[in-house]
Formats: sequence, C-alpha cells, structure tokens
Amino acid sequence: MSARRRPLVSGNWKMNLDHHQAIHAARDLGLRLRGADTAAVDLSVHPPFTDLRSVQTVLEADDVPVALGAQNCAVEDAGPFTGEVSAPMLAKLHVEYVIVGHSERRRLFGETDEVVAAKLRAVVRNGMTPICCVGETLEEREAGETTTRLTGQVDAALEAFDGEILPALVVAYEPLWAIGTGRAASPDDAQDAARVIRSVVAARRGDEAGAQLRVQYGGSVTPANAAELVAAPDIDGLLVGGASLDPAQFVAIARAAHPPV
Ligand code: 13P
Repeated sequence: MSARRRPLVSGNWKMNLDHHQAIHAARDLGLRLRGADTAAVDLSVHPPFTDLRSVQTVLEADDVPVALGAQNCAVEDAGPFTGEVSAPMLAKLHVEYVIVGHSERRRLFGETDEVVAAKLRAVVRNGMTPICCVGETLEEREAGETTTRLTGQVDAALEAFDGEILPALVVAYEPLWAIGTGRAASPDDAQDAARVIRSVVAARRGDEAGAQLRVQYGGSVTPANAAELVAAPDIDGLLVGGASLDPAQFVAIARAAHPPV
C-alpha cells in the first residue's frame, strides 16, 4: 500500500438487516470504534436502501467516523423509473460512496458494462465516489483469462469518463469464486489482479491516475486474512460482505487494515 493512498474498508451489507437491526449495528459500530481506528483508514458501510436514512441519522448523531454508502443507484437522476433510487436521492442522505457493478448485480440483474458505466457517471455527476466492482469467474481464471477479463471491465469503466479528468474512483477486485465461499484469494493472486487494474488505469489515463487509484479486494474477507491482503502493495482496502454484518468483526478487519507505521 502506497503511503499516498489511504485504505478504504467498506462493509457491503447486501440484502441483510432491516432498519431496526441496521440502527443497532450502526450504534454498535460507534461504540466499538476508537479515534485511532480511523486515523489512517477510511471506513464505509453500505446498508440496503430502506436503512439509509436510519443509519445516516445514527452515524451523524453519534459522530461515528464511518461514511455512509449505498449498494447501487439508478442511471437517471429522476423520472418514470418505477422501483429505482436515484443518485441525487442518495447524495441528499449524505451518501459518500456507491457500489457500482457488483457481480451480483451483473450476474443476477443483467447489468452490462454499459449500464455500469452509466451508473458510474450518475454517481460522479452527483458528487459521490463510485466503488466499481470487477472480477473474473472461476472458469475464466482456470482458462488463464483473468487479465483479459479485468482489463475489459476496467476499460469499460474508464469509458464512462472518456475525455474527462478521471474523477476519484475506487475499484474493487472481487473474484466471483471468492464471494461468499469462504475461499479468499491468496494475497499473491489478489496483488496480481490489483496490479493489473492499476496498470490499465495508468496506461489509459496516465501514471498519476494509476498511482492515485484506490483498489480494494473483496471476497471472503475475515479478521484472520485481512492484514495479509492489505499488506499487498497494490491493495488499498477491503470490500467486506458477510463479516461486515458483525460490528466486532468489521472493526477487527478495519484495525487489520492499518498501513504499517
Ligand atoms: P463476502 O465477504 O461475504 O464474501 O462478500 C464479498 C462481497 O461481495 C462484498 O461486496
């Protein structure tokens, strides 16, 4: 991890915790976190939409040093799109980070690279930072196609900002075979993938853009494997699913993500 990049540890709650449970989890986080925990690490939590207002209220009222995040947003800012939630609505709730193109959305809800690019633009247009998820399937890895797959996904994401200065952007490397399986990528495999992602950004948008990009790793992160994953030079944080539902585990992971002093 470069001294110039602050790690970002994010909890993706997925479709878990109703708003009562979410209030409890946010309060619990606030009680567990110490000032030192966020001195060198940024934290975010990404509750379901129906929890956002409740969690926002707790984080702000209790001064919990955790940014509010969302898991998805609409392409359009407003209009006849039944069931969608727009980026301006999220920004109004002080959401700072929005996960875009999670593999569950790509795989289960048909989000294409084009849709992902449009959502990235919507998030940035509304003053928030996207966390763009990329990652290969087990079949792609076994066929030696990991680099090609990641390059294609990162290229498609960069097209969202073609011709513009690249905005603050986080890319999460989440290999599909590691998500929810208990089988995290090895630090070496995660580092190789993170380096590919950074080098694509550097090649397309310049060395400075590559050096500034924050790359998270996600997939079966636990307090036991967090430190070795974050120790990889191109990994600048973690996107945590299951373990983030338990505030004690999430705080333990955040502590493991401290850069070496
Ligand atoms: P798990 O940590 O539960 O494997 O989920 C990873 C993930 O998909 C985070 O976005």
